[in-house]
Amino acid sequence: MLSDTKETGGSTVENNSQVKAHYDALLGRTYTWMMGGASTNFEENRKFFDLHGLRPPTVDAKALDLGCGSGFQAIPLLELGYAVIAIDMSADLLQELKGHKEALARKVSGQSPLPSLTLIEGDILRLRALLPSDALASVDLAVCMGDTLTHLQSTAQVQSLVKNAVSFLKPGGTLILHFRDLTRHLEGTDRFLPCRTDENNIFTCVLEYEEAQETFLDGRDKEDRFVLINDLLYTRPDASAPWTFKKSQYKKLEVPPEEVLKMMQDAGMDTSFHPLAFGVVAVMGRKKP
Ligand SMILES: C[S@@+](CC[C@H](N)C(=O)[O-])C[C@H]1O[C@@H](n2cnc3c(N)ncnc32)[C@H](O)[C@@H]1O
Repeated sequence: MLSDTKETGGSTVENNSQVKAHYDALLGRTYTWMMGGASTNFEENRKFFDLHGLRPPTVDAKALDLGCGSGFQAIPLLELGYAVIAIDMSADLLQELKGHKEALARKVSGQSPLPSLTLIEGDILRLRALLPSDALASVDLAVCMGDTLTHLQSTAQVQSLVKNAVSFLKPGGTLILHFRDLTRHLEGTDRFLPCRTDENNIFTCVLEYEEAQETFLDGRDKEDRFVLINDLLYTRPDASAPWTFKKSQYKKLEVPPEEVLKMMQDAGMDTSFHPLAFGVVAVMGRKKP
């Protein structure tokens, strides 16, 4: 089936700008499909926010979505009544989120108007530059969900993100960091993950841990450990066309959940820890008054 292929789009990704290159080259246009589609993920996050009682505390409540992607969290937050500021470095995914917001606006037209959605293309590590200074201490809920955190390139970057996100929260505001605990290694052929397949697309991901490949880690912090993510996509426009093979790789940070808990506590938060399915965890903090 896969014999008639050509190869395009190889890239090696070594820092934040190369994470962006990876999304621009391959993942941005396939991310939502690869994750099982928008509706499934909107529904999953509606349930998550409901389970944790994250309704907007006031009519003008504000949420910050850090690494929003195509809006798996931003859309449910808008539905709940939050005005959302959504930041991402992928133009493709922000464009897709804009489309989901427009579809939602059409769906609810005639009912109460949707709160605002502000889209910002930029690096979540530069929050202070991206947001106006009067946004400090004005946000009710900040989320960095769906494994965005592991895209950062050092524990120091995670710490900086936590500190900055907390500075934009009101006292009593909530921060949710939701990510895969990559410190729990898969072994052998379990590292080959069939992400999603349909008639015209086959998406597979292969994980390589630090021990297996020391050379891609130049310039890292000594303490930090990484997983090299190899995304492999066979795709064709329709059944009569030849398959095209696209490949791209980037590294993800092993972020120990207990360190994230400590970072939040050090930033002045009361915290709670929620282990979820498939090694995913949610670390939640409430900013002390
Ligand atoms: C795995 S996706 C998660 C997206 C969304 N939160 C979700 O649950 O589907 C990670 C997202 O983070 C974005 N991202 C990664 N590092 C970033 C950074 N430093 N600044 C802004 N966006 C970043 C990527 O472009 C991508 O959209």
